[in-house]
Amino acid sequence: MKKSFHTRFSDIAKVRNRAAFADIEQKITKYEYGSDAFMQILSSRYSCHSFTNYPVSDSKLNMILEAGRMAPSAKNLQPTRIWVVKGEDALARLRTVHPCYGAPVVLVVGCRNEEAWVRESDGINSAKTDAAIVLTHLMLTATDAGLANMWIWDFDPSKVREVLPETREHGIYALLAIGYPADGAGKPTELHSVRKSLDELVTVL
Ligand SMILES: Cc1cc2nc3c(=O)[nH]c(=O)nc-3n(C[C@H](O)[C@H](O)[C@H](O)COP(=O)(O)O)c2cc1C
Repeated sequence: MKKSFHTRFSDIAKVRNRAAFADIEQKITKYEYGSDAFMQILSSRYSCHSFTNYPVSDSKLNMILEAGRMAPSAKNLQPTRIWVVKGEDALARLRTVHPCYGAPVVLVVGCRNEEAWVRESDGINSAKTDAAIVLTHLMLTATDAGLANMWIWDFDPSKVREVLPETREHGIYALLAIGYPADGAGKPTELHSVRKSLDELVTVL
């Protein structure tokens, strides 16, 4: 039987090391090295510009959120917050700010500068860096779970705070749209394969 696009996408993203996300309170005693599983997650991730409304299961969503919780932060201050937008009414309100490509789940990632570490030497606040690490964990774990996703930054954070009053006390850093890719429009864009060479990226001193 011919596999659907969703199944094939999920197959590509599948890895053996799910135990790593099980529970950070439990000591992880077994981790299998020697596979290219992590590189496969990195290479199968892409920005999806069109989703179906097929729902994301709670077990997948919980695994993704758990991965966000595991993210490191400067001085371990953990200034990041996540709002899961998946109810019809909340999604409709958020889509007045950004259409989110029709994703059935959008994670709103925010942070509070006053909860983050400030580097003494130049006064730079780590809140946005910490939030970006959480987002990266969320994005890659969603890929591992066979879900397409999209990091959205081009929107007005003040409007998100207006339509989702629960977020009002926070800086809104980014949106992560998650779901299953729509046939055709949900595939990677040309930009996905455009990367600088290692020579351009890296300088060895
Ligand atoms: C910080 C960040 C912000 C982004 N914001 C947007 C956005 O607002 N709208 C959009 O269409 N793509 C956005 N993208 C997706 C990038 O355009 C995309 O990652 C890049 O073109 C490479 O394509 P790929 O993700 O498919 O590999 C964002 C990506 C990152 C990492």
